[in-house]
Amino acid sequence: MALLFLSSPERAAVWAPIFEAAGEEMEIGEAAVSDPSAITHILCWQPPKDISRYPNLRVLISSGAGVDQMPTLPEGVQLSRTVAKGIEEMVRDWVVMAALMLHRNMPIYLAQAARGDWRAHMTRGTGFTRVGVMGLGRIGKLAARTLADLGFQVAGWSRSGARVEGIETFGEADLEAFLGRTDLLVCLLPLTPRTQGLMDAAFLARLPRGAMLAHAGRGAQLDMTALRHALDEGQISAAMLDVTDPEPLPQDHWAWGDPRVIVTPHIASETDHAEGAAHALNVIRATREGREIPGLVDPLRGY
Ligand code: GLV
Repeated sequence: MALLFLSSPERAAVWAPIFEAAGEEMEIGEAAVSDPSAITHILCWQPPKDISRYPNLRVLISSGAGVDQMPTLPEGVQLSRTVAKGIEEMVRDWVVMAALMLHRNMPIYLAQAARGDWRAHMTRGTGFTRVGVMGLGRIGKLAARTLADLGFQVAGWSRSGARVEGIETFGEADLEAFLGRTDLLVCLLPLTPRTQGLMDAAFLARLPRGAMLAHAGRGAQLDMTALRHALDEGQISAAMLDVTDPEPLPQDHWAWGDPRVIVTPHIASETDHAEGAAHALNVIRATREGREIPGLVDPLRGY
C-alpha cells in the first residue's frame, strides 16, 4: 500500500519521517508517482483533478474534518475525514471564545475601542444566556459540554436527535422549538444538500429577537444577505463568523466593516501535522486488516 501525499511541504516534512518509522510508503506530489497503480490512499484537502488515474485507490483522506470539497468517488473508494483530538479541541476553543465574546458585548466594545469610546453596557452572567449548538458530532458535543461547564444554558440540535449527557437535545422535527429557546446560536453543521442555505431569513426570524450567531460550520449554510437584513432589523444583534460565502471574503464585503460582525478567516482549527499523520497511518492499517476505516464518511449522509 502507498499513500500519495498532496499537501504542504511543511506538513510533508513532518509526515515523511513518521511514515518512514512506521515502514509505510509515501509519495509526495503527483509528479513523483511513477506507478499510479501502486497508490492505494490519497491525503489531500483539494482532491486531485483526475482520480481515475489511480485504479487501485481505496481511501481518499481529507486532511481536515470537512469533506464537502470532495467529489463523488468511484465505486469501491472510501472517504475518510481526519479525526484528531487537536481539531476537536481547537474548534471547541473558537466556539467558547465566540460565545464569550458575543455574550460579553465584544463586537460593541471593539467598535467603541476603535474610537476611544468608554461606555459600559449591561452585562449578565453566562447563566442568563441560552446557547443552542447545531451539529452534535464529536466537536459539537465537546463544545456543548464545555459551554455548559461555563454556566450557559445549553441545548443541542442534530438531525438524528443525538443525545448528550446533561444537555437538552432536539431532533429534526423540533427545529422550531430549538431556535425559539436559543439566544446564542452556534452552528457546527457539516455542509450537505440539506444544510446548504439552511440559515436564511425565515430561519433567522425563528430565533428570539436580538439573538446572536457564532458560525463555524460552512459558509454556504448562511445567507449573508439575510444576516445583514436581520442585523439591520435588530432580529440578530451580533455575529461572529469563521466561515463565509464566498471564501475568502472579498475585501469590500459589508461584513468586514460592520461593527456588529466579527469575521475570522476560517481558522477555528488546523490539523496538527503529527496527528494528521497518525490518522492516515490508522486508515492504512485498517484498510490492510479489513477493519472499518477511521473517520469513515457515509456518502449518503455526506458526513
Ligand atoms: C476545516 O474547516 C476542516 O474541515 O477541517
